[in-house]
Amino acid sequence: MKHIVTGLFTAAILATGAQAQQNIVVGHALSPSSHYGVGAQAFIDTLTELSGGTFTGEQAPAGQLGGERDMIEGLQIGSIDVVVTSTGPLGNFVPEVFALDLPFLFRDYDHARAVLDGEIGQELLEKIGENNIVGLAWSENGFRHITNSQRPVRTPADLEGLKLRTMENRVHMTAFSGMGASPTPMAFPELFTALQQGVVDGQENPVTVITASKFWEVQKYVSLTGHVYSPAAVLASPILLDGLTDEQRGWFDEAAKASAAATRAEVNRLEEAGVEMLLENGMEVITDIDKAPFAALAEASYSVYTDEYGTEMVERIKAVE
Ligand code: PAF
Repeated sequence: MKHIVTGLFTAAILATGAQAQQNIVVGHALSPSSHYGVGAQAFIDTLTELSGGTFTGEQAPAGQLGGERDMIEGLQIGSIDVVVTSTGPLGNFVPEVFALDLPFLFRDYDHARAVLDGEIGQELLEKIGENNIVGLAWSENGFRHITNSQRPVRTPADLEGLKLRTMENRVHMTAFSGMGASPTPMAFPELFTALQQGVVDGQENPVTVITASKFWEVQKYVSLTGHVYSPAAVLASPILLDGLTDEQRGWFDEAAKASAAATRAEVNRLEEAGVEMLLENGMEVITDIDKAPFAALAEASYSVYTDEYGTEMVERIKAVE
Protein backbone atom coordinates (compact mmCIF):
# COMPACT_ATOMS: atom_id res chain seq x y z
CA MET A 1 0.00 0.00 0.00
CA LYS A 2 2.79 2.36 1.01
CA HIS A 3 4.38 1.72 -2.40
CA ILE A 4 1.18 2.55 -4.26
CA VAL A 5 0.73 5.79 -2.34
CA THR A 6 4.35 6.77 -3.01
CA GLY A 7 3.92 5.88 -6.69
CA LEU A 8 0.79 7.97 -7.01
CA PHE A 9 2.47 10.83 -5.20
CA THR A 10 5.44 10.67 -7.59
CA ALA A 11 3.09 10.56 -10.58
CA ALA A 12 1.34 13.65 -9.29
CA ILE A 13 4.64 15.49 -8.93
CA LEU A 14 5.71 14.42 -12.42
CA ALA A 15 2.37 15.54 -13.82
CA THR A 16 2.80 18.87 -12.07
CA GLY A 17 6.43 18.91 -13.24
CA ALA A 18 5.33 18.40 -16.85
CA GLN A 19 3.10 21.47 -16.54
CA ALA A 20 5.77 23.57 -14.82
CA GLN A 21 6.96 26.47 -16.87
CA GLN A 22 10.48 26.33 -18.22
CA ASN A 23 12.29 29.40 -19.48
CA ILE A 24 14.64 28.76 -22.42
CA VAL A 25 17.58 31.09 -23.01
CA VAL A 26 18.61 31.58 -26.65
CA GLY A 27 22.16 32.91 -26.96
CA HIS A 28 23.64 34.67 -29.99
CA ALA A 29 26.34 37.17 -30.93
CA LEU A 30 24.34 40.06 -32.37
CA SER A 31 21.74 42.66 -31.36
CA PRO A 32 18.08 41.73 -30.74
CA SER A 33 17.11 43.62 -33.93
CA SER A 34 19.66 41.75 -36.10
CA HIS A 35 18.83 38.80 -38.37
CA TYR A 36 19.89 36.49 -35.50
CA GLY A 37 17.75 38.45 -33.03
CA VAL A 38 14.72 38.16 -35.31
CA GLY A 39 15.36 34.40 -35.62
CA ALA A 40 15.88 33.95 -31.87
CA GLN A 41 12.59 35.73 -31.18
CA ALA A 42 10.76 33.59 -33.76
CA PHE A 43 12.14 30.52 -31.95
CA ILE A 44 10.87 31.77 -28.59
CA ASP A 45 7.46 32.85 -29.92
CA THR A 46 6.86 29.56 -31.77
CA LEU A 47 7.95 27.44 -28.82
CA THR A 48 5.77 29.44 -26.43
CA GLU A 49 2.77 29.18 -28.73
CA LEU A 50 3.09 25.45 -29.53
CA SER A 51 3.62 24.56 -25.88
CA GLY A 52 0.70 26.68 -24.69
CA GLY A 53 3.13 28.64 -22.51
CA THR A 54 4.74 25.60 -20.85
CA PHE A 55 7.97 26.85 -22.38
CA THR A 56 8.79 30.53 -22.46
CA GLY A 57 12.04 32.07 -23.59
CA GLU A 58 14.36 35.03 -23.63
CA GLN A 59 17.29 36.11 -25.75
CA ALA A 60 20.84 36.46 -24.44
CA PRO A 61 22.05 38.65 -27.34
CA ALA A 62 25.29 40.46 -28.19
CA GLY A 63 27.65 37.77 -26.92
CA GLN A 64 26.37 38.11 -23.33
CA LEU A 65 27.11 34.39 -22.91
CA GLY A 66 30.51 34.66 -24.61
CA GLY A 67 31.83 34.16 -28.13
CA GLU A 68 30.35 31.51 -30.41
CA ARG A 69 32.96 28.94 -29.42
CA ASP A 70 32.15 29.51 -25.71
CA MET A 71 28.44 29.18 -26.39
CA ILE A 72 28.87 25.86 -28.22
CA GLU A 73 30.90 24.57 -25.27
CA GLY A 74 28.06 25.77 -23.02
CA LEU A 75 25.62 23.58 -24.95
CA GLN A 76 27.83 20.55 -24.42
CA ILE A 77 27.94 20.98 -20.65
CA GLY A 78 24.31 22.08 -20.40
CA SER A 79 24.96 25.61 -19.12
CA ILE A 80 23.25 27.09 -22.24
CA ASP A 81 19.94 25.89 -23.74
CA VAL A 82 19.85 27.06 -27.36
CA VAL A 83 22.31 28.98 -29.54
CA VAL A 84 22.09 30.59 -32.96
CA THR A 85 25.66 30.58 -34.30
CA SER A 86 27.61 30.81 -37.51
CA THR A 87 29.62 27.72 -38.47
CA GLY A 88 32.76 29.79 -37.70
CA PRO A 89 33.91 27.73 -34.70
CA LEU A 90 31.67 24.70 -35.33
CA GLY A 91 34.25 22.82 -37.42
CA ASN A 92 36.48 22.70 -34.33
CA PHE A 93 33.81 20.47 -32.77
CA VAL A 94 32.45 18.73 -35.89
CA PRO A 95 35.18 18.78 -38.61
CA GLU A 96 32.78 17.49 -41.31
CA VAL A 97 31.08 20.92 -41.16
CA PHE A 98 34.22 22.54 -42.64
CA ALA A 99 32.78 21.43 -46.01
CA LEU A 100 30.28 24.30 -45.72
CA ASP A 101 33.00 26.88 -44.99
CA LEU A 102 34.96 26.43 -48.23
CA PRO A 103 35.35 29.72 -50.13
CA PHE A 104 33.66 30.31 -53.49
CA LEU A 105 31.77 27.01 -53.18
CA PHE A 106 28.15 28.16 -53.12
CA ARG A 107 26.94 29.96 -56.26
CA ASP A 108 24.23 32.04 -54.59
CA TYR A 109 21.63 32.02 -51.81
CA ASP A 110 19.32 29.61 -53.65
CA HIS A 111 22.16 27.11 -54.04
CA ALA A 112 23.21 27.35 -50.37
CA ARG A 113 19.65 27.01 -49.09
CA ALA A 114 18.94 24.04 -51.38
CA VAL A 115 22.04 22.25 -50.02
CA LEU A 116 21.22 22.97 -46.38
CA ASP A 117 17.54 22.08 -46.73
CA GLY A 118 18.30 18.85 -48.59
CA GLU A 119 19.97 15.57 -47.73
CA ILE A 120 23.45 17.10 -47.26
CA GLY A 121 22.11 19.50 -44.66
CA GLN A 122 20.32 16.67 -42.89
CA GLU A 123 23.46 14.48 -42.88
CA LEU A 124 25.49 17.29 -41.36
CA LEU A 125 22.88 17.97 -38.67
CA GLU A 126 23.17 14.28 -37.78
CA LYS A 127 26.99 14.57 -37.63
CA ILE A 128 26.59 17.49 -35.24
CA GLY A 129 24.39 15.21 -33.14
CA GLU A 130 27.28 12.74 -32.76
CA ASN A 131 29.30 15.38 -30.95
CA ASN A 132 27.25 16.12 -27.86
CA ILE A 133 25.43 19.02 -29.52
CA VAL A 134 21.94 18.89 -31.10
CA GLY A 135 21.67 20.47 -34.55
CA LEU A 136 18.03 21.56 -34.80
CA ALA A 137 18.06 23.46 -38.10
CA TRP A 138 20.25 25.33 -40.58
CA SER A 139 19.78 29.05 -40.43
CA GLU A 140 21.77 31.79 -42.16
CA ASN A 141 24.37 34.50 -41.70
CA GLY A 142 25.00 35.40 -45.37
CA PHE A 143 27.71 35.85 -47.99
CA ARG A 144 30.76 37.45 -46.40
CA HIS A 145 32.49 40.61 -47.64
CA ILE A 146 35.72 42.37 -46.63
CA THR A 147 35.78 45.70 -44.77
CA ASN A 148 38.89 47.64 -43.76
CA SER A 149 40.17 51.02 -42.66
CA GLN A 150 43.12 51.35 -45.04
CA ARG A 151 42.22 51.14 -48.75
CA PRO A 152 39.73 49.89 -51.31
CA VAL A 153 40.26 46.17 -51.91
CA ARG A 154 39.68 45.18 -55.56
CA THR A 155 42.39 42.58 -56.14
CA PRO A 156 44.33 40.13 -53.94
CA ALA A 157 47.32 42.53 -54.17
CA ASP A 158 45.26 45.06 -52.19
CA LEU A 159 45.02 42.55 -49.32
CA GLU A 160 48.82 42.32 -49.04
CA GLY A 161 49.88 43.02 -45.46
CA LEU A 162 46.33 43.83 -44.23
CA LYS A 163 45.74 42.52 -40.72
CA LEU A 164 42.37 40.93 -41.14
CA ARG A 165 40.30 39.44 -38.35
CA THR A 166 38.86 36.05 -39.30
CA MET A 167 36.68 33.67 -37.38
CA GLU A 168 38.42 30.92 -35.42
CA ASN A 169 38.16 28.69 -38.48
CA ARG A 170 41.10 26.91 -40.14
CA VAL A 171 39.50 26.96 -43.61
CA HIS A 172 39.01 30.72 -43.53
CA MET A 173 42.48 31.42 -42.09
CA THR A 174 44.16 29.31 -44.78
CA ALA A 175 42.07 30.99 -47.48
CA PHE A 176 43.08 34.48 -46.35
CA SER A 177 46.76 33.56 -46.06
CA GLY A 178 46.49 32.28 -49.64
CA MET A 179 44.87 35.54 -50.77
CA GLY A 180 47.74 37.56 -49.23
CA ALA A 181 46.25 38.96 -46.02
CA SER A 182 47.52 38.39 -42.49
CA PRO A 183 44.64 36.51 -40.87
CA THR A 184 44.11 37.13 -37.16
CA PRO A 185 41.55 34.77 -35.60
CA MET A 186 39.51 36.41 -32.87
CA ALA A 187 36.19 35.89 -31.10
CA PHE A 188 33.54 38.30 -32.35
CA PRO A 189 32.91 40.10 -29.00
CA GLU A 190 36.51 41.41 -29.14
CA LEU A 191 36.29 42.64 -32.72
CA PHE A 192 34.82 46.14 -32.50
CA THR A 193 37.45 47.31 -29.99
CA ALA A 194 40.22 45.61 -32.00
CA LEU A 195 39.13 47.55 -35.10
CA GLN A 196 38.78 50.77 -33.12
CA GLN A 197 42.26 50.45 -31.62
CA GLY A 198 43.89 49.37 -34.88
CA VAL A 199 44.85 45.91 -33.54
CA VAL A 200 43.44 44.71 -36.87
CA ASP A 201 42.83 46.74 -40.05
CA GLY A 202 39.80 44.87 -41.26
CA GLN A 203 37.40 42.02 -40.94
CA GLU A 204 34.97 40.08 -43.10
CA ASN A 205 31.27 39.49 -42.51
CA PRO A 206 27.95 39.64 -44.35
CA VAL A 207 26.10 42.93 -44.87
CA THR A 208 23.70 41.72 -42.15
CA VAL A 209 26.51 41.81 -39.57
CA ILE A 210 28.24 44.95 -40.88
CA THR A 211 24.98 46.88 -40.47
CA ALA A 212 23.96 45.27 -37.15
CA SER A 213 27.41 46.07 -35.71
CA LYS A 214 27.64 49.61 -37.15
CA PHE A 215 31.12 48.87 -38.45
CA TRP A 216 31.00 52.17 -40.37
CA GLU A 217 32.07 53.76 -37.07
CA VAL A 218 35.48 52.03 -37.37
CA GLN A 219 35.81 50.97 -41.05
CA LYS A 220 35.86 53.00 -44.26
CA TYR A 221 35.85 50.47 -47.12
CA VAL A 222 33.54 47.54 -47.94
CA SER A 223 34.48 45.26 -50.84
CA LEU A 224 31.60 43.06 -51.96
CA THR A 225 33.78 40.00 -52.48
CA GLY A 226 31.14 37.46 -51.39
CA HIS A 227 34.13 35.17 -50.88
CA VAL A 228 32.33 32.62 -48.73
CA TYR A 229 28.78 31.76 -47.73
CA SER A 230 28.33 31.78 -43.96
CA PRO A 231 25.69 29.33 -42.76
CA ALA A 232 24.26 29.58 -39.27
CA ALA A 233 22.83 26.79 -37.18
CA VAL A 234 20.20 26.61 -34.46
CA LEU A 235 21.81 24.33 -31.88
CA ALA A 236 20.55 22.99 -28.57
CA SER A 237 21.99 21.29 -25.54
CA PRO A 238 21.48 17.51 -25.48
CA ILE A 239 21.19 17.80 -21.71
CA LEU A 240 18.06 19.93 -22.15
CA LEU A 241 16.53 17.90 -24.98
CA ASP A 242 17.18 14.46 -23.50
CA GLY A 243 14.66 15.20 -20.76
CA LEU A 244 11.82 16.04 -23.15
CA THR A 245 8.88 13.98 -24.39
CA ASP A 246 8.58 13.37 -28.16
CA GLU A 247 5.85 15.98 -28.34
CA GLN A 248 7.98 18.58 -26.57
CA ARG A 249 10.98 17.74 -28.78
CA GLY A 250 8.73 18.29 -31.81
CA TRP A 251 7.97 21.82 -30.57
CA PHE A 252 11.72 22.57 -30.46
CA ASP A 253 12.14 21.30 -34.03
CA GLU A 254 9.25 23.48 -35.25
CA ALA A 255 10.59 26.49 -33.35
CA ALA A 256 14.01 26.03 -34.97
CA LYS A 257 12.44 25.86 -38.45
CA ALA A 258 10.48 29.05 -37.76
CA SER A 259 13.67 30.68 -36.51
CA ALA A 260 15.62 29.81 -39.67
CA ALA A 261 12.78 31.04 -41.91
CA ALA A 262 12.57 34.37 -40.06
CA THR A 263 16.34 34.85 -40.21
CA ARG A 264 16.50 34.07 -43.92
CA ALA A 265 13.69 36.56 -44.61
CA GLU A 266 15.67 39.20 -42.73
CA VAL A 267 18.83 38.32 -44.69
CA ASN A 268 16.84 38.79 -47.92
CA ARG A 269 15.62 42.19 -46.74
CA LEU A 270 19.08 43.36 -45.65
CA GLU A 271 20.76 42.18 -48.86
CA GLU A 272 18.58 44.81 -50.55
CA ALA A 273 18.51 47.56 -47.92
CA GLY A 274 21.85 46.97 -46.18
CA VAL A 275 24.19 48.31 -48.87
CA GLU A 276 22.14 51.51 -48.91
CA MET A 277 22.70 51.82 -45.14
CA LEU A 278 26.45 51.38 -45.59
CA LEU A 279 26.54 54.17 -48.17
CA GLU A 280 24.34 56.46 -46.05
CA ASN A 281 26.75 55.96 -43.18
CA GLY A 282 29.75 57.07 -45.22
CA MET A 283 31.32 53.78 -46.25
CA GLU A 284 32.87 53.41 -49.70
CA VAL A 285 31.31 50.32 -51.26
CA ILE A 286 33.51 48.59 -53.87
CA THR A 287 31.55 46.45 -56.33
CA ASP A 288 33.83 46.18 -59.40
CA ILE A 289 35.64 43.08 -58.21
CA ASP A 290 36.92 40.22 -60.35
CA LYS A 291 36.45 37.24 -58.04
CA ALA A 292 38.46 34.75 -60.13
CA PRO A 293 41.95 35.65 -58.80
CA PHE A 294 40.67 35.58 -55.20
CA ALA A 295 39.10 32.16 -55.81
CA ALA A 296 42.30 30.77 -57.37
CA LEU A 297 44.40 31.84 -54.38
CA ALA A 298 41.84 30.61 -51.83
CA GLU A 299 41.73 27.14 -53.37
CA ALA A 300 44.54 25.86 -51.10
CA SER A 301 42.13 26.05 -48.16
CA TYR A 302 40.04 23.18 -49.60
CA SER A 303 42.72 20.76 -48.39
CA VAL A 304 41.83 21.55 -44.75
CA TYR A 305 38.69 19.54 -45.49
CA THR A 306 39.62 17.29 -48.42
CA ASP A 307 42.87 15.93 -46.87
CA GLU A 308 40.68 14.23 -44.28
CA TYR A 309 37.40 13.56 -46.09
CA GLY A 310 38.24 13.59 -49.82
CA THR A 311 36.44 15.57 -52.52
CA GLU A 312 33.13 13.68 -52.66
CA MET A 313 31.15 16.10 -50.49
CA VAL A 314 32.52 19.10 -52.39
CA GLU A 315 31.35 17.53 -55.66
CA ARG A 316 27.96 16.68 -54.18
CA ILE A 317 27.50 20.27 -53.00
CA LYS A 318 28.47 21.65 -56.40
CA ALA A 319 26.02 19.30 -58.11
CA VAL A 320 22.98 20.53 -56.13
CA GLU A 321 20.74 22.60 -58.40
O1 PAF B 1 32.22 36.96 -37.64
C1 PAF B 1 31.65 36.19 -36.86
O2 PAF B 1 32.22 35.74 -35.85
C2 PAF B 1 30.23 35.76 -37.19
O3 PAF B 1 29.92 36.02 -38.51
C3 PAF B 1 29.19 36.46 -36.28
C4 PAF B 1 29.20 37.95 -36.48
C5 PAF B 1 29.48 36.17 -34.79
C6 PAF B 1 27.80 35.96 -36.62
O4 PAF B 1 27.68 34.60 -36.49
